[in-house]
Amino acid sequence: MDIFQKCAEYMDARMAQAAGLYPYFLPLEDTEGTEVTIGGRRVLMIGSNNYLGLTTDPRVRQAAIEATKRYGTSCTGSRFLNGTLALHQELERRLAAFVNKQAALVFSTGFQVNLGVISCLVGRGDVVVADKDDHASIVDGCILALGEMRRFNHNELTHLDRVLAGIDEKAGRLVVVDGVYSMGGDLAPLPEMLPIIKKHGARLMVDDAHSLGVMGGGRGTAAHFGVTDQVDLIMGTFSKSFASLGGFIAGDEEVVHYIQHHARSLIFSASMPASNVASVLAALEIMETEPEHVERLWVVTERMRAGLIRLGFNMGPSVTPIIPIIVGQRDTTLLAWKMCFEKGLYTNAVISPAVPPDQCLLRTSYMATHTDEQIDRALNILGEVGRELGLIH
Ligand SMILES: Cc1ncc(COP(=O)(O)O)c(C=O)c1O
Repeated sequence: MDIFQKCAEYMDARMAQAAGLYPYFLPLEDTEGTEVTIGGRRVLMIGSNNYLGLTTDPRVRQAAIEATKRYGTSCTGSRFLNGTLALHQELERRLAAFVNKQAALVFSTGFQVNLGVISCLVGRGDVVVADKDDHASIVDGCILALGEMRRFNHNELTHLDRVLAGIDEKAGRLVVVDGVYSMGGDLAPLPEMLPIIKKHGARLMVDDAHSLGVMGGGRGTAAHFGVTDQVDLIMGTFSKSFASLGGFIAGDEEVVHYIQHHARSLIFSASMPASNVASVLAALEIMETEPEHVERLWVVTERMRAGLIRLGFNMGPSVTPIIPIIVGQRDTTLLAWKMCFEKGLYTNAVISPAVPPDQCLLRTSYMATHTDEQIDRALNILGEVGRELGLIH
């Protein structure tokens, strides 16, 4: 059998493309954050993770330009051998202080953080326990680990308790959850989870990709719940509120030190370019000194949520700036996406296997830089599409 046969037989995306219902890999010709140009048409963006809108902040842009001028365009090597700049270490100190942990370690993407951290900590004989809705990078980190992976039903504490109780006493155990779930926009109930995790002698790692810059005044889910000292590892990415690319892990110094010398996705991959590090530093400075951005994000979010509730949409358990609009079947979801797009609104169509086949949704997410007029425009379009498709009445 030819290994490439599956490629020749793969028709799903081509069929959607032929039907004009393909919402992925669309090239943006221009972007100003809240509005983007696609196919020559300007559309309102409610499908990005640019929560604080800092990708276009002049100070963040300038920091990236200055760093490129000073250090060049690439580090051309891994952190381990020749790719560590003083700037990476400055960022690590600043991040550790920001999330209130002893130490932090910067990787080239958030995905690599989860791959490297989980696979190096969960050795042979250990068990990693992951929520069923955890991000793909967590799942892949678990698959890569030599230890065993077990899953518990999304946010179900009794199931978590049962899964932990079933692990051999001698095994080391790590629980990994998303702080904010990237599709549902709901939170991991850390205060209720922690006693269960502690009872079973497990450690907790929280992926705060969608929480930093959003929850806890921007400092993440643990800060939001006031449980930072009990969360062992906080993972973050720079590809969302931090307006850059890269990621980090923060925790006790000896644990971070171990990860630094064992995580293969850190050691065998080139480090973040200076421009990316400098833009994170600039974004971090803004987060620390200008709380108004996080505050505005929540004003925008609650204006949108109230409008969607008035319209009668099903938004699942979302309590954050990620607000899914649950449509149901795949074809209706792709159609809803296309109708929104044609009316000038960019959302993300999310279908199986990312969500159960009957729970397909339009993922919408908001930015501090959205204006009230833009939010009302988005609501008008969603209202029209929702009525036309019979999703609301
Ligand atoms: C919850 C979560 N974790 C990790 C990642 C990976 O982050 P990055 O984009 O930095 O690779 C993402 C990004 O999609 C995410 O949503």
